[in-house]
Amino acid sequence: MRILTGIQPSGKLHWGNYFGAMQPSIAMQDQGETFIFIAQYHALTTVRDGAALRQSARDVALDFLACGLDPNKACLFRQADVPEVHELAWLLSTVTPMGLLERCHSYKDKLARGISANHGLFAYPVLMAADILAYQSDCVPVGRDQKQHVEVTRDIAAKFNQAFNCEVFKMPEPRISESVAVIPGLDGQKMSKSYNNTIGLFEDPKTVKQKIMRIETDSTPLEEPKNPDACRVFALYKLFANEAEQAEMRENYLRGGYGYGHAKKALLEIYTRTFAPFREKRLELEANPKLVDDILAAGADKARAVARQTLDAARLACGLD
Ligand code: ADP
Ligand code: TRP
Repeated sequence: MRILTGIQPSGKLHWGNYFGAMQPSIAMQDQGETFIFIAQYHALTTVRDGAALRQSARDVALDFLACGLDPNKACLFRQADVPEVHELAWLLSTVTPMGLLERCHSYKDKLARGISANHGLFAYPVLMAADILAYQSDCVPVGRDQKQHVEVTRDIAAKFNQAFNCEVFKMPEPRISESVAVIPGLDGQKMSKSYNNTIGLFEDPKTVKQKIMRIETDSTPLEEPKNPDACRVFALYKLFANEAEQAEMRENYLRGGYGYGHAKKALLEIYTRTFAPFREKRLELEANPKLVDDILAAGADKARAVARQTLDAARLACGLD
């Protein structure tokens, strides 16, 4: 089984990205042949700063490697190292109905938020389809917000196969990790860099502490029982905790005599404990840039060879050989 996912380098990664996208895709490296790439071209639909894009792409690679991506198991590469996806994106765009793209929620949401649309933003799902189809992916782990794009990919693949009477593209399946479908941010909305409510993966420990301590809670007095399911601190704690730890924390809330301050302290501790080895690994990688360059170069070579084969088959099907 081939598993593929991409992540945009459009800012520092946060807990929502980690639990919604990174952790599930890193876990996949043990389940099949995994490709994980840094979607620079997609980020370009919104980022307007070359130095920042370069740095973010590097940061994403370091973050994945620090958090457990094993380059011997999974192929990690940068999208811009595989130019084949652009030619494929064009071939796909010629069979993509306008209406299919006009219906995409993420495009409509951006318009509704007053972002002036460029063609890249509109054509975004076609490039994403090219990413997915180029590697003959079976399974695409993504957050719920990206599910529609994988469905659009299936539509586009079917249209191409039908139009040229071929079987060039395989039908990919989205994989949404339901238990962690939407990670709440500090304000209770979806955690997102657009809402300024994030906790960064490798943010400095002092800031993490301040952010956790500032999470709004209700005014139930310390001695009274509290509802864990209505509390943002508990929602975040659950992400890090195993079943026994979750049950114990739930019990603390329901019993009373346990304040939100205690829960926040427990959240800070469990995050710190979980991330300590990742922080250490990240420092090691930062000190060894050549190693990271080599991993990305080897990943690009492997990815390019697969994309080339698919592109050649697509070119043949539509008479461009
Ligand atoms: P942001 O909302 O901060 O801009 P992105 O849209 O770049 O984040 O998301 C990158 C990946 O992380 C996607 O697969 C997305 O589904 C996942 N993701 C982002 N935020 C969350 C969240 N709060 N809960 C679950 N998954 C998330
Ligand atoms: N659009 C995805 C996101 O914002 C990133 C992405 C680009 C992607 N191409 C992909 C994800 C292909 C999965 C497969 O999160």
